[in-house]
Order: sequence, then C-alpha cells, then structure tokens
Amino acid sequence: MMIELQNLYKKYGSKVVINGITEKIETGEFFVILGPSGAGKTTLLRILAGIEKLDNGKIIVDGKDVTNLPPEKRNVAMVFQNYALYPNMTVYDNIAFPLKMRHMKKDEIEKRIDRIATLLKIKDILHSPVTKISGGQQQRVAIARAIVRDPSFYLLDEPLSNLDARVRFTARGELKRIQKELNGTFIYVTHDQKEAMSLADRIAVLHEGIFEQVGKPEELYEYPKTKWIGEFIGDFPMNFLPGSIINEDGIEIGFRPEWTLLGGEFKGIVESIESVGENIYLFCKVKDSSVVIFSKQRYDVGDEVSFSITKYRKFKDGILIKDDKK
Ligand SMILES: Nc1ncnc2c1ncn2[C@@H]1O[C@H](COP(=O)(O)OP(=O)(O)OP(=O)(O)O)[C@@H](O)[C@H]1O
Ligand SMILES: [Mg+2]
Repeated sequence: MMIELQNLYKKYGSKVVINGITEKIETGEFFVILGPSGAGKTTLLRILAGIEKLDNGKIIVDGKDVTNLPPEKRNVAMVFQNYALYPNMTVYDNIAFPLKMRHMKKDEIEKRIDRIATLLKIKDILHSPVTKISGGQQQRVAIARAIVRDPSFYLLDEPLSNLDARVRFTARGELKRIQKELNGTFIYVTHDQKEAMSLADRIAVLHEGIFEQVGKPEELYEYPKTKWIGEFIGDFPMNFLPGSIINEDGIEIGFRPEWTLLGGEFKGIVESIESVGENIYLFCKVKDSSVVIFSKQRYDVGDEVSFSITKYRKFKDGILIKDDKK
C-alpha cells in the first residue's frame, strides 16, 4: 500500500509535537523513522494507526483518504515497544486471538497460522505456553499476532528494544526477510541509528517536529543535511572544524573519522582511545575542537598525532552547503 502523509500537524496542549510532515511511502518499502527520545515517533505511529487524532493534515492510503477512519477500519498491524502476550495462552492461541475476534473459520485460522509460523520460524513452539519461551521467541509471537490478519501496512514501534544485542542483530535480519517475503509496507520507528541504517530502504530523521532529512542510509551518512544529523548518524558523530583550516572562513567543515588518515598536515593530541575490533578511534584535541580520528595503529593518551582529511563536507549555519563540483 502506498501511504501519503500530507502536512501532518499535532500538538499536546501548547506543545507542538508534529509540525508539518509531508512524505510518500511506497508499496513494499521498509521506511524507518529515526529520532531521539521524545521526538514524537510513537505519536506519529499512533496517528497513522488512528489511535491519536490529527490537528491538521491528511493521510491517504492507496488514494483513499483515511484521516477520519477509526483504527479498526484502517486494517493496520501495530507492534508496540512493550508488546504484551496473553500469559495464560499458548503461542497458537495468542496468534489465533485476533482472527477469532473476527469470527474466522477454524480451518482458515489453522491455515493462516501455519503460514505465519513458517515465516517466523516458530512452528515448533506453537503449543508451548508463552511464559515458557525465550524473549526472542516472545518477540516473534508478538509480531506473528500483529501480522496474521493480512494488514494493509505495518507499524512497528521499537519492537526489538527488549532483546539483548546479539539476539537483536539476528532479529533485524529476520524482520527484513519477513518484510520482503510479505512485500509489506513497513513503517518502523527507532532511536537507534545503527538499527535504522541496517534495516531501512529509506530513513526519515524526525527532529523538532519535522522530517529534517529523508533518504537512503548511505545518503544520510555521506551527505547529512544538517550538522545535527551528521552527529546523530554514524557510529561516531561527524567531526567539525572551522573552515579556516582550509582557508575558508565563515563555514565549518564536517568529516567522519573514517575520512581521515594518519600522517599529514593537521595535528592533534590524543585524549582518549576506543577500540572497535581491529579499528582504533583516537579522540583528539585539535586547537579548541575535539575530533575523532580513525587509526589502525595504537597510540597512548597524550601522544601527538598528525593526520589528513581525505573527504569533507561544508556547512554554513549548521546546514550542508550543496557543492555542485562533486
Ligand atoms: N498523551 C500525551 N499527552 C501529552 N503529551 C504527550 C502525550 N503523548 C506524548 N506526549 C509528549 O509528546 C512528545 C513526543 O512523545 P512520543 O512518545 O511520541 O516520543 P517518542 O519519539 O516516541 O519517544 P521515545 O523514543 O522515548 O519512545 C513528548 O514530549 C511527550 O512527552
Ligand atoms: Mg516512543
């Protein structure tokens, strides 16, 4: 289903949470809304589900205006941050529940559950009580229960946040696979940029009530539209130095740790060190600024390092300057 958001606007009391969002989400797209805590991500999903009312704007699904439709008429699947399974039921009965509520016939229910359990790889636990399965399995059951109805589109609010890091990594891969197999339109909310980068076809950065940038993960990484996004995206924030170091006053240059090489014209003093696998990141003081430099070589705190910058972007007043030459 293609979803169009037209000038969405929402406030609580005098606090504007969503301040004019317009975007088109394509059929079969994995669309991730990324933003810090309190940005309004859950609010936006609740608006799309029909649980929360808009103050202004329209939601169009496949050409049809659904803005004033109640949740049950929108046919959306929503997986919440804190999913709750029915603890006294088996996995099977949990998944069957929304279908029974719709008075679906028993053999049709069986067929659907068989299909969805295969998709989510939970066939072997269908008859276990949900209290006797692992957190990762519970997560999958919650997803199964939400998607078993053949919804028009899928809303997921940090559904993997309860899982530990390693399980979460596998779960991401599975979620992506499920989305492709269903050819579902997924709108997925997270505050974790790594998760967004690994899952999304496109990411929308929600900041101060608007989509500050919408693009493919690599676009956001390479060309963050604002300094704020440059710092928010990436395993380390983008570095910024005054333009004077390249003899351009009035601007700032932004560069990622990965866009530096040891040896060269700039000098810094190592203040701290972080190792990530084989890679070493040096946190350095460069004049009055702090920057992170990528290194394969070990250094000690207090060492002087020289480095060069292999690639950079220019920013003025916190906003990326479009450079036509590149
Ligand atoms: N029902 C409500 N009444 C008043 N204010 C609300 C209500 N729901 C949310 N807010 C406020 O709206 C803002 C956005 O909240 P929301 O839950 O959408 O953020 P979020 O991006 O999902 O954050 P998190 O990452 O922490 O889940 C917050 O400032 C919150 O306090
Ligand atoms: Mg939230």
